[in-house]
Amino acid sequence: MDKIIIFDTTLRDGEQAPGASLNAKEKLEIAQALVRLGVDIIEAGFPVSSKGDFEAVKLVASKIKAASVCALARAIKKDIDCAYNAIKNSAHPRIHVFLATSKIHMQYKLQKAEDEILRLAVESVKYAKKYCSDIEFSPEDASRTEKEFLYQVLEAVIEAGALTLNIPDTVGYAEPEEFGSLIKGIIENVANINKAIISVHCHNDLGLAVANSLLAVKNGARQVECTINGIGERAGNASMEEIVMAIRTRKDLFGFTTSINTKEIFKASRLVSKLTGFVVAPNKAIVGVNAFRHEAGIHQDGILKKRQTYEIIKPEDVGFYGQGLVLGKHSGRHAFKQRLIALGIKLKENETQRAFERFKMVADKKKEVYDEDLIAIIDEELKTAKEIWQLEELTITSGTKITPFATVKIKSKTKSYTNSSSGDGPVDACYKAIDKITKIKGELMDYSIQSVTKGKDALGEVNVKVKLKGKEFSTRASSTDILEASAKAYINAINKFLSQPKAHQSLTL
Ligand code: KIV
Ligand code: ZN
Repeated sequence: MDKIIIFDTTLRDGEQAPGASLNAKEKLEIAQALVRLGVDIIEAGFPVSSKGDFEAVKLVASKIKAASVCALARAIKKDIDCAYNAIKNSAHPRIHVFLATSKIHMQYKLQKAEDEILRLAVESVKYAKKYCSDIEFSPEDASRTEKEFLYQVLEAVIEAGALTLNIPDTVGYAEPEEFGSLIKGIIENVANINKAIISVHCHNDLGLAVANSLLAVKNGARQVECTINGIGERAGNASMEEIVMAIRTRKDLFGFTTSINTKEIFKASRLVSKLTGFVVAPNKAIVGVNAFRHEAGIHQDGILKKRQTYEIIKPEDVGFYGQGLVLGKHSGRHAFKQRLIALGIKLKENETQRAFERFKMVADKKKEVYDEDLIAIIDEELKTAKEIWQLEELTITSGTKITPFATVKIKSKTKSYTNSSSGDGPVDACYKAIDKITKIKGELMDYSIQSVTKGKDALGEVNVKVKLKGKEFSTRASSTDILEASAKAYINAINKFLSQPKAHQSLTL
């Protein structure tokens, strides 16, 4: 087999990252982007974990036909029933059963002995197999599991019908050579291993998730579990774009292909960043805005003479079309549309119209509109149009010798509401006024601001993490006015909270 199977877990492990919660519609939007990317398997969620997640997985499974849709389950009948119910309408359903096998997990977390773990692993795979043929089994914390016991569990679950054996480095503890040897050891010591595909699932606690996954591939793994932008539990998972581009760029070393249409990478990265509210670091490999920027004079000179002197990947191969000066206030609709096409952004006619109007407003305030500005404008325009609460007006007075005071007007459906508040600072005053209207008290856990491009008139992008009724929501918004961006980012978090099924029911206006 010369193809590495790409199993994307952005919607499951990725969504486990604190503050990354996604509603059903957002999960579907990402799943559709994953299909355009060409991933083989989409792990859509952990249905037993909440009613909302069950509904989200069900929606993804019913709409996505071009990839397998997988649901996670503990080795418990209730979980497996729930997982199957969520994915039964999928064209290619897969149930992913996991059970910890390391001494520390068995003793402290599960309080079970080896023989019981072995029995549960086999029984749960057999139970899941009654529902569908495609069963994946993960011995959780495999990299810290006693080798002989690991081999024993793997052999038994293959016998019980598991077709994919996923080897997780659950706590990101493994080192690349060691993890590669673990995969080699499995191939050499599990008698029936030729009946299953070996998968790997690496966490990034030591920054080694991608390296570990690649060493595993070199040693016989044929499925890699990963997430867009590397998001996931704690320090995250192996990043899909890095794995895919490493395999592609160093085909001379790996000798494998993937089914990923790499030109969709940048768009998918932006979408995940927008919907989770997680900013992509500028220096992030493959998808950071600096990934293809050459600052040093010697480098720029080299690039002009021969691109490959300093560039190992063509930006356009990952769907990145640079950040040249693009549009200004005199640019017309045609130029605007052409630029959207170049950026690979497809909009419906009414969306193009709205985005164009917003672009004109920004261009009036800001002389030069760059690609990043355009992407931010469009992200935002498409989002706010469907939102529960929308900002209409904001007036703030603030200064070094007065108490900041904000008056906010926001709209829900067709009705507008206005309220005012003072605060410790202009943002605090504004958020307090919003709380008075929505009657939901948000706790600001994190706030950051950065400029989308350069210049004093640049768009400011505000990222917030807001705790609402015990759950954190990360969102962002941009504007040439940073207080407007701050208000919008906060309102976006409230909207995200309100689009969770339960919260919606208790909405009181
Ligand atoms: O990290 C892990 O071990 C997991 C399993 C559920 C595969 O996410
Ligand atoms: Zn994981």
